[in-house]
Amino acid sequence: MAIVVDIVNWLRSQSKPAFAIESLLLALLVWRTFTRWHLQMAPNAPELFKDQSIFGSLRFTTSRAEYLAEGLAQSPDGQFSFLHGGNHIVVVSGEAARTSFQTSRGLDPGAGFAALFGSFLDISELTKNSMRRCMLIYKRCTQDDHLTTNLHHLVHDSDSHVRQMGERSVINPLKSMGLLIYQLTHRMAGAHDIANDPQLLRSTWAVYAPLEDSPYIDILFPWLPTPSKLQKIWGYTKLHLTISQIAKKRQADGKADTDMMQMLIDEDMNSMIRSLAIIGAVLAGVFNTTFATTWNLCCLATNPDWLERVRAEVNGVVAEHRLSETEPLVDILQRLSLRDWETKFGVLQSTITESIRFTMAGAVVRKNISGKDMKIGNTRYVIPNGSLAIHATADAHMDEGIYPEPLRWDPSRYTKDVPQGSDVPHGYLGWGSGNHPCPAQRFAELNVVVASVLFIASYDFEMCDEAGVSTVGPLPGILYNRMGAGRPETDMYMKCELRRAEQNV
Ligand code: HEM
Repeated sequence: MAIVVDIVNWLRSQSKPAFAIESLLLALLVWRTFTRWHLQMAPNAPELFKDQSIFGSLRFTTSRAEYLAEGLAQSPDGQFSFLHGGNHIVVVSGEAARTSFQTSRGLDPGAGFAALFGSFLDISELTKNSMRRCMLIYKRCTQDDHLTTNLHHLVHDSDSHVRQMGERSVINPLKSMGLLIYQLTHRMAGAHDIANDPQLLRSTWAVYAPLEDSPYIDILFPWLPTPSKLQKIWGYTKLHLTISQIAKKRQADGKADTDMMQMLIDEDMNSMIRSLAIIGAVLAGVFNTTFATTWNLCCLATNPDWLERVRAEVNGVVAEHRLSETEPLVDILQRLSLRDWETKFGVLQSTITESIRFTMAGAVVRKNISGKDMKIGNTRYVIPNGSLAIHATADAHMDEGIYPEPLRWDPSRYTKDVPQGSDVPHGYLGWGSGNHPCPAQRFAELNVVVASVLFIASYDFEMCDEAGVSTVGPLPGILYNRMGAGRPETDMYMKCELRRAEQNV
């Protein structure tokens, strides 16, 4: 009761227009919550999180991993429910529940993502049809011919990018590597026209960041045109127009290229699907690939032993392919075949695998679109029809039984005869598992490797503050408050110095 009195008093203290708007929103919120109340009553759904207020779970939006960890800790058997906006969400954990989450048909990631993204539309039908077609195109982008044809772009772009950093610089690696990874993702699953044009590259890159953030109000009222939603619509519209113009011009000029855009044109896909495929791929690159690359470089900067091992590996490959003392690094690396890139950097790969165990320790979502309640593994619970299901990836990635001392960054976990995580069902989820593994793993990993090799071969680097003063100690924590990769809690900076003499950069 006290909370109601407090709310009324607070509303009274507001100006008249603010009072009217806030009262309306409050009424909508209460209405929305009560009209969905039946969902939590679904028989056999796991019990509601005790901390649950009638207004849902604001903290799930702001500090998702902590919210899920608290819910799991208070649940007697590792499964619980909560209300989030208009959604009833079931959180599953443990090996059997994880397996049924990863492998059950009828649990749809696209529809789940749309609900948490605060989408205007129920896009489950749209995603079902369009995603199937996009998925086929993404798979073609991971085949040898596409990768081999475009490999030289990855090396050239990475070389140009690191050169622009100069002899000595302080960089924000998330921003600096972010722009490069954005460019490389366009090389692999976007439009070369954007990757080739520095201005267009920067202006379109700027659109993506706000597209990911969904304030709670967007999820609460998917139909309400909030400023953040209007900003997203405007962003998507601009991207769609840019992509459509590029396709039109290419067709009018009768020119062809070797990118995914060309595959979409040749397949005669309509302009909406073309944009959906490119924007979807680039979004994943902007968030997942960027953070994987950046976090790994930062972990190397703070683990000198591993940096030395990776550097020795990179130097060894460069030395093996060098034709003369004065040959530039980029010329040497341009001669590496796809197979070389995929097999000769085993130590670097193990550091990337370990970094992704951390960057992808957030949550994955599904919506039950099967038309019936679905049993959760060997538990007594179900995911009700229409409800969302969430699996906190930390359930596997931070499980002491699978990864001893899970908070320690230790790439040697994957260099043993039986790599940690591989002997437990769905024990490593960095690239997804079961019915929905990442279709882009091969080219996304190649992007991380090429960008990292060029950076490591060209620079000595260490963590520092914004002014360039060296810092020691752990990296910032990772905040998981959205789908996909997390992000660092605070800005990170790195001091880089060119290794000109050694590499003829
Ligand atoms: C380092 C970079 C990346 C990592 C670590 C990564 C990781 C993942 C993971 C963990 C999943 C499973 C999510 C789930 O279970 O719901 C996934 C799915 C997916 N990823 Fe990636 N990803 C990366 C980059 C990309 C890129 C660049 C694309 C661009 C095409 C992409 C496209 C997809 C798609 C379409 C799915 C959904 C698959 C499905 O629903 O069946 N990913 N990814």
